[in-house]
Formats: sequence, structure tokens, C-alpha cells
Amino acid sequence: MQYATITGWGKCVPPATLTNHDLATFIDTSDEWIKPRTGISQRHISHVNTSELASVAAKRALAAAGLEGSDIDLIILATASPDTLIPNIASTVQANIGASCGAFDINAACSGFLYGLGLASSQIKSGQSKKVLVIGAERLSFYLDWSRRETAVLFGDGAGAVVVEATDQPGGVLGYELNNDPAGRDILKAGFGTAMDRFNAASLDFYIEFNGQEIFKRAIAGMGKLSTKVLEKCGVDKEEVDWVIPHQANERIIDTLINRMKIPKEKAVVNIANYGNTSAATIPIAICDALEKGMIKPNQTILSCAFGAGLTSAAVLFKWGDRVTPINQSDAELPPCEQTGIELVAGAVKHFCG
Ligand code: ACO
Repeated sequence: MQYATITGWGKCVPPATLTNHDLATFIDTSDEWIKPRTGISQRHISHVNTSELASVAAKRALAAAGLEGSDIDLIILATASPDTLIPNIASTVQANIGASCGAFDINAACSGFLYGLGLASSQIKSGQSKKVLVIGAERLSFYLDWSRRETAVLFGDGAGAVVVEATDQPGGVLGYELNNDPAGRDILKAGFGTAMDRFNAASLDFYIEFNGQEIFKRAIAGMGKLSTKVLEKCGVDKEEVDWVIPHQANERIIDTLINRMKIPKEKAVVNIANYGNTSAATIPIAICDALEKGMIKPNQTILSCAFGAGLTSAAVLFKWGDRVTPINQSDAELPPCEQTGIELVAGAVKHFCG
């Protein structure tokens, strides 16, 4: 029997930050509003495209697993903000790491990384793949209308990646659940795609828009339902869960979810303060942060759940392996960034806020 275990992990967060105080210099908001309502203090703004963030995260994950790009036999890249739709950006990562294998992007919005992790485990358990790279990478700042305070304060850029390997040792991904509720398609959207009128400049006015309170409720219900389902399916009691790594959209969503599931808050990995919502990248970044902080110990049981546009939801239950330290460190870095977060968004702010 083959098991599918995470053996490498890496993140890439662009260096420039935009704090709540920075935001308050150009829109009518404040740290006093944002922090208690969302848990967010700052977000990172990228000076490079999504595929560059993804490639650096991927190189770091490969080094942590002690592997080369040529060892990988499938690349799954979850993103809703690729630099190009044709070709996919998994192919850019593939070229940058020197892999020879299948490579594709998936768009399941904020649930994308868990969709990818679930599919990677199935590929491995079926014997089709041995070493799969799963990446979540986003440059959501591209979609923001900086005059809309209800959305502008929530999102950030970043990437995270894991290597999932076939092993004979029981553990790894124990099970996963995926769902989508198409009745909620219109309550969270960005309006970018072939439905746009190419010859009408007004159609370039796309931006993330949502019904925050409706998403809030549905996120808790969706993540709670799938988390319970995957625990039941795997025959694992919630008391046996060592860590919950939820999607980071709003700390109050996480608190309510954890409360309703009757799981102690100390078991939730929460890092939204530093990054905001990086959509498909939140969970792999949180995995990396939890490991860097020494929170995850060998063979611990982890429940991860997410919710996003679609309305997608996903939950994956996995057992960590024996190793919680990287085998190697990668020297991969982004090109230097000479600008501050405010400078990076200045052009877009001028466009939207005048
Ligand atoms: N700064 C200051 N005031 C603001 C801001 C802001 N950034 N945004 C909204 N307000 C104001 C509103 O205008 C409103 O003012 P009013 O009472 O005078 O009309 C007031 O604050 C309350 O607004 P609400 O929308 O009721 O605030 P709420 O407590 O619901 O919080 C939030 C809004 C943070 C968006 C919350 O609903 C939320 O997190 N929702 C879910 C997250 C989400 O939708 N994420 C999108 C991605 S999907 C995903 O990742 C799962």
C-alpha cells in the first residue's frame, strides 16, 4: 500500500508590506477597524509575478525534501491570479525547476491548495505518481480596487509549496473532502475572463467584490461540514487532532469555526496578522510558519480546511511524517525590491482613488 506524505515545504512572501496605517493614508479606514474585525495588521505586495513567487516557494520545498526538480513527476499549481492563462504558470515553475513531467494550474480559489493536495494524494495512492509538487500562489493585489475599503484591506500576495511523496510508512494524507456550492457563485467574484468585452475599455474595470457577511456565514458552515465529514470518514476523533490549519480569510471566521467544532483555540494555526488573505497560498504558508516556529512535531495529526469563490470548500486530514526540519536550504531568492508597499500600489491607487 502506498501512502502520500509531505516531505518538503517552502514559502515565498514578497518583501514589501502594506500596513493598516499605510492603507489609512489613501482610503477611509483605520487599524482600529481592520485589526479587531479581521485580525490583519499588514499584507505583502509583490513586485514580481505570481509564477516567480511560486518558483521560489517550489525551489525551497524541493530543497527541504532533499530533491531536484527532475525528481518531480507532477506539478499542481493552485491559483486564481496567474500571470498568464495561456500557458498555465505551472509550466513556468516547471521550466524554472527543470522538471520533466505533467504540469497544470487549478482554480478553486481559496480552496485550491487543498484541492491540489487531495488530488496529489490520490495520484500517489493510485500508483500514477511518486513525487508531486503542490503549490498555492497568488498575486491578489492585481484584482483590487483600492477605493473599495471593504475588499482592499483583506488581501495580500504570496506563495507556498509542498512536496508530497509516495512512502510505505502508514500516515500522510488520511483522507480529503471537496465540495462546491454553485448557488453561491455570485456572492464572491472578480469579473475577469472571457465574459469581458475585449473592445470596451470599461470592462477592464474588474475587481474583487463579495457579500462579506454571507461569505462569513457560509465559510464557517462549509469548512465545519467538510471537516466533520473527513474526520468521520477517516475514523479520527477531533480530540486526536493536534493542529487545525484553516484558510486565513478572517480571524473571526477561524475563531467561530474552532469554537463550533469544540476544538481549543490553541490548536489553530493563525498567521493572518502578517499576510492577510493570500487565497490559495494561505495554507502552505501557514504550514511553513508552523514548522518554522516548531509547532508541528513528528507524526502529529493535522486537519486543514478552506473555503473560497465558487463557492468551493475542502478539508484534508493528514499525519505529518518523522521529519520536521528541512534536509537542505535553497538559495533561491526573488529579485531585490527597491520599493515600499505604498510605492508599489501607488499607480493603482491613483487610478482608482484619483
Ligand atoms: N474600514 C472601515 N470601515 C469599514 C471597512 C474598512 N475597511 N469596511 C467596511 N467598513 C464599514 C462598513 O461601511 C460598515 O459601515 P456602516 O455601518 O456605516 O454601513 C461597517 O464598517 C460594517 O461593515 P460590515 O460589512 O457589516 O462589517 P463586518 O463586520 O461584516 O466585516 C468583513 C466585514 C471583514 C468583510 C467580514 O464580513 C468578512 O471577513 N467576511 C468574510 C471574508 C470574505 O468575504 N473574504 C473574501 C474572500 S473569500 C474567502 O477567502 C473565504
